[in-house]
Amino acid sequence: MDSSLLPSPIHVACIMDGNGRWANRRGLPRNEGHTAGEEALAGAVRAASARQIPWLTVFGFSTENWVRPRAEVRHILSLHRKLFARIDEMNENNARTRWIGRPFKERGARTPIYVQKAITKAIADTAHNSGLEVTVAFDYGSRAELLRAAQLAMSHGEVTPDSISSHLYSPDMPDVDLLIRTSGETRISNFMLWQIPEATVYFTDHAWPDFNAAELDNAISSFQRDKQR
Ligand code: IPE
Ligand code: IPE
Ligand code: MG
Repeated sequence: MDSSLLPSPIHVACIMDGNGRWANRRGLPRNEGHTAGEEALAGAVRAASARQIPWLTVFGFSTENWVRPRAEVRHILSLHRKLFARIDEMNENNARTRWIGRPFKERGARTPIYVQKAITKAIADTAHNSGLEVTVAFDYGSRAELLRAAQLAMSHGEVTPDSISSHLYSPDMPDVDLLIRTSGETRISNFMLWQIPEATVYFTDHAWPDFNAAELDNAISSFQRDKQR
């Protein structure tokens, strides 16, 4: 079949897992795995953009990840600052930066000020782009998102599927078509529970730092097989 006739996912989401194990297997400190993971994300953005995928959402750091050792958290935070500062690359890919997570000023939110600033700047400096929407989930947990959406929906009137949807962190984001989790784990880990009801889930044993365009194509093929059933 002509591959241009096959359906293509509108929204691809990735649970970027296995950075630590990738490093362990190489006898490197875990933090090296996170650094390599950040490079893999840059590759994923290029690949998604080249395939004209409209939405790419990645799980960068969860509400549960704060309990990790302080030095590891610090390293991941500084990598996120670096990641949000890759503005020229985003512009080259005609890609916009977005972020989902606990709103900075809300009780319990933990994004430090220097990461907040990097996020705000990245969003402003890429807002003119019209291609790929790249959303980074940072200090993100789906239960926190849903609890907040339900509370807001209730305070504005009726709780309905539409009113909950309209109070999610990124209400204009379409549902996920293809959810990828790397590194052999088959959990959802509190990621986008509201947005994945119809998603094809693709698990791969490869660790996130080894994720590349070929792996994205395998995941897309799995989505396409699902749609043809
Ligand atoms: C994913 O890799 C990155 C984050 C969760 C921040 P991990 O750090 O979870 O790597 P593993 O699962 O321990 O190998
Ligand atoms: C999920 O990975 C969160 C991110 C990828 C940021 P984890 O490694 O934190 O998930 P669990 O703890 O294995 O479920
Ligand atoms: Mg993990």
